[in-house]
Amino acid sequence: MAKILVTGATGTIGKLVVKHLENLGADYLSGTRNPKGGKDVYFDYNDPSSFEKATEGIDTTFVLGPPLVLELDAVLAPFLDFLKEKGILRVVYFSAYKGDKMQGLDFHPKLEQKLKNDGFHYTILRPTFFAQNFKNYEGDNIAQRDIIFMPAGDGKASFIDADNIAEVAAIALTQPGHSEKVYELTGPESVSYHDVAKLLTEVTGRTISYPNPSPEQFKSVLTESGAPEFIADYLISVYGTIAANNVDSVTDDYKKITGKEPTPIRKVLEQDFAR
Ligand SMILES: NC(=O)c1ccc[n+]([C@@H]2O[C@H](COP(=O)([O-])OP(=O)(O)OC[C@H]3O[C@@H](n4cnc5c(N)ncnc54)[C@H](OP(=O)(O)O)[C@@H]3O)[C@@H](O)[C@H]2O)c1
Repeated sequence: MAKILVTGATGTIGKLVVKHLENLGADYLSGTRNPKGGKDVYFDYNDPSSFEKATEGIDTTFVLGPPLVLELDAVLAPFLDFLKEKGILRVVYFSAYKGDKMQGLDFHPKLEQKLKNDGFHYTILRPTFFAQNFKNYEGDNIAQRDIIFMPAGDGKASFIDADNIAEVAAIALTQPGHSEKVYELTGPESVSYHDVAKLLTEVTGRTISYPNPSPEQFKSVLTESGAPEFIADYLISVYGTIAANNVDSVTDDYKKITGKEPTPIRKVLEQDFAR
């Protein structure tokens, strides 16, 4: 049986990947900078001395890079080079839907290309925006200000349940037939931020609004609240793909792989914001 290293194992996606691997009875290690025992192993992309121990006995790797890192390709490349050198060529890489449309942020397309050029047996997952982003990134706005506030314009996105993505990742990590494949993963329907504000209003029983900030307004609010300028620019680029209607489409890759329908965003919002 394959032994799998899950990077990003303590994050939104990684935790769910680990849950699905447990359910499948898979043999795995959870990579983290702060191991707490059990199946945890110390792993840091920025500390190459962690690579050898974290990959002991490993033949398959789930490679997920942290968010809000501008030069993610440079951060992940040394680990991919290490894997290649060691002959651990089976990699499930966590990319992004329409990653080539994020202006000024080209790390996911670059890393996809590297996996192909370097002869990895890759599965590339390109999930769209997580439905869980509202809890993870807008939780305070929703709880304290009754707003959602991203520079998403009037565009739409086919938000996906993070658990659906992790389910596909666990299948690709443990079952044959997924090498040299690219899966584009979306939810069942595209909705705008205006639509999400309405859904949140229904789910929370409070009026949640979407002020539809321009990129300039968004940047000044964020920087005035103390966030570094690059975070605002990063988010403007990422959410600009919604504003430009680049992610207003659905695919059936999730259904093809799991045989199930993807979870509607409303269900995730109910789980995350139930009254
Ligand atoms: N949010 C979205 O809508 C969306 C959509 C498509 C694609 N994505 C992609 O999803 C990825 C983020 O996934 P996520 O939301 O699950 O992340 P997350 O919840 O923010 O978790 C980040 C993970 O990265 C680990 N990490 C941070 N710095 C690290 C380092 N130097 N070395 C090793 N591990 C490190 C953290 O582990 P420790 O702190 O335990 O070390 C943690 O497990 C990004 O690549 C993003 O582009 C996101």
